[in-house]
Amino acid sequence: MDPTPDDGVEVSRMVLAHLAKHDFPTRSPLYAAIARELLDDDEVLALATGVAWHELPPMLLLAAVRHLLIAAPTEPLAAFHADLTENPRPPEEAYPLFREFALRHGDEITALVRSRAIQTNEVLRCACYMPAVALVPGALGTAEIGLVDVGSSAGLGMLLDHYAYDYGAAGSAGPAGAPVRLRCEVRGEVPPPLAAAPPRIAHRVGLDRAPVDVRDPDATRWLRASVWPGQGSRVGLLLGALEAARADPPRIVAGDAVRDLPALLDEVPPELGVCVTTSVVLTYLGSERAAFAAALEEAGRRRPMAWVAYDTTHGIDRIEDAPPWVRALMDSGKVDCALVRLSLLTAAGREDRWLARSGYHGEWIEWMDAPV
Ligand SMILES: C[S@@+](CC[C@H](N)C(=O)[O-])C[C@H]1O[C@@H](n2cnc3c(N)ncnc32)[C@H](O)[C@@H]1O
Repeated sequence: MDPTPDDGVEVSRMVLAHLAKHDFPTRSPLYAAIARELLDDDEVLALATGVAWHELPPMLLLAAVRHLLIAAPTEPLAAFHADLTENPRPPEEAYPLFREFALRHGDEITALVRSRAIQTNEVLRCACYMPAVALVPGALGTAEIGLVDVGSSAGLGMLLDHYAYDYGAAGSAGPAGAPVRLRCEVRGEVPPPLAAAPPRIAHRVGLDRAPVDVRDPDATRWLRASVWPGQGSRVGLLLGALEAARADPPRIVAGDAVRDLPALLDEVPPELGVCVTTSVVLTYLGSERAAFAAALEEAGRRRPMAWVAYDTTHGIDRIEDAPPWVRALMDSGKVDCALVRLSLLTAAGREDRWLARSGYHGEWIEWMDAPV
């Protein structure tokens, strides 16, 4: 990407100031401490110029540093990252080492910043949309489903039937001996319905504009580097799920969510119920979001299908038609959750069921639909 006049140090500072105010303090004490001093350090901020603001240049800078550190865990700066050391050092002491490391690796960091996009894959989100996917065979009247996952990243969410789920007192689901175990806190009065057995997925394919190959060490290192330090089990879960996926990686087609979706829907054998999943993808579709929903609705007129969407309140479509509990949430001004919705798309039109709200990374779920 060619630098333009408006993607310089000031843009990085503006984006960083937003993150430092709204996101880092509660989510990453290390990034909060680094950001406090980085905001006034033009020389280091200059390493993150040349990319547009919506690519989040300071996030790319922080991820680039982590990407290099993961490959060099004996660097003194690694001692501040909880996933790279047993006893992380206090975040307040990190900045001088961060600055020295960043300037020493300036060329490599700028090259990474300008060639990569922040990329994540949160396997724990499966715990929040699995109960919705489990409703699909019943809703479509088919014994097995064909899964078409859009915005798959490394495809970890496509393997949702391979994981064991622990919902505490609300119960468990999935194969008990699975190597990946997802723990999700259940909130509220009504537990999510848990199927005795995972839905039978007889066909699965993913679609992503930038798929991550789980067998590519550099691509998966970047995926890990994009996770903020100090976020509990996120990195451990990611590494465990990547390891499990390497044995039999899911197929992910490189392409665009709108342009390439119809061909993948047509691939699903006729005896299977089509289940489309999108997990934190609508948020990124921007102006394509309406076209994506329209493409699915059009496909549903030809063949009944289900769409399970897990997304932010900014990203999910048709929020203006959601039930009162969603509207009350929006009106509260304190939206701190994602939403889970099951849509049935048929010749008769589209029917949305707003099922649950949950933590952004799948940490908790509150089932809001009537008991099933
Ligand atoms: C925030 S990640 C979510 C990944 C995964 N679904 C999850 O929940 O962990 C968004 C994904 O959507 C993909 N994406 C964004 N816009 C896209 C588009 N127009 N077409 C296809 N994939 C897209 C990105 O490459 C990225 O992998």
